[in-house]
Amino acid sequence: MSRSPHTSHRLSVSLTLLVALSLLPEVGCVLRTGGRPASGTFALEAQGFDREVLERAQAWVQTEPDKALCDALCELQAPGDKKGVDTCSHVLHEQTDKGRVVGELSCTGWWGTLATGRRPQGWRAPRIEQVDALGALLSRMAHEEHAAAQAFTQLAGQLRRWGAPEACVARCESAAQDERAHARIVVDMLAERGLDVVLVDQAPVYTGLLEAARNNVIEGCANETASALFAQVLAIRAPSVALRTGFARIARDEMRHAELSWDLHRWFVGQVGELEAAALEGLLRAAVADIPEIFARECARLPDGFGYVDGLGLGGVLSSALLAA
Ligand SMILES: [Fe+2]
Ligand SMILES: [Fe+2]
Repeated sequence: MSRSPHTSHRLSVSLTLLVALSLLPEVGCVLRTGGRPASGTFALEAQGFDREVLERAQAWVQTEPDKALCDALCELQAPGDKKGVDTCSHVLHEQTDKGRVVGELSCTGWWGTLATGRRPQGWRAPRIEQVDALGALLSRMAHEEHAAAQAFTQLAGQLRRWGAPEACVARCESAAQDERAHARIVVDMLAERGLDVVLVDQAPVYTGLLEAARNNVIEGCANETASALFAQVLAIRAPSVALRTGFARIARDEMRHAELSWDLHRWFVGQVGELEAAALEGLLRAAVADIPEIFARECARLPDGFGYVDGLGLGGVLSSALLAA
């Protein structure tokens, strides 16, 4: 049985974003946070690495002496946007040929990342080429906006099969169009800087309804809501009119996607059993509680021209208001 999605979160999510944003002009320093978030963990066992990775890690250690070679290897090889390494060991093979595996790596750690778009199930972050900070941000955004279009297209198909209200499906399809437009906007921003990016579709991963509901909690309710706020920050702080205009368009759409995510969450909760629904709500609270930490990290690595942003403060206001709603 399907239940119509409620839309009562629409107002509260939008208002919450605006309240958080009202803090922006008052901030004056970058805050870095300590502590261990519950964003997730990773483990790489016997991960082979090639000479290119080894050389990049060695160069990294030279420029950042605090970073041990193993941590650098782990940083380069671990999926996603990693926050810290708990354990790490590596072995270098004695006889190596260029292009072949030259060592083995085993590491565990923790991660948390703010993506600028909803990532589809099973998505793996592409490696971003070393460019300046703004180029790196835009390159990552281009990949994530492109991925978000894939995510919404896949989700629309799944929702239709599960008998979700046509309005939900249509909103996902419309969001996919938005995301394709966002990718084009960001690719144009890169082109104006003489940079190029190759966007590739990743093989879709389809799961059952419960796993899709979990993905919506992380990638939609938490990530898209936070990324809507982040896009607003970019739209206000970007150092050129062209950038601010492009980010403002993205921010407007992302706020709508955030609202959609919360409406989808309410629909998903209505489709599962009591225990699963409670687990989804628990996951939601944990994901929203992680927003300040993740938002702070993202703001702390904004390019110089964007000025200082109190990411922890902004993310904290957003997180608190969402938890209270
Ligand atoms: Fe987007
Ligand atoms: Fe989005």
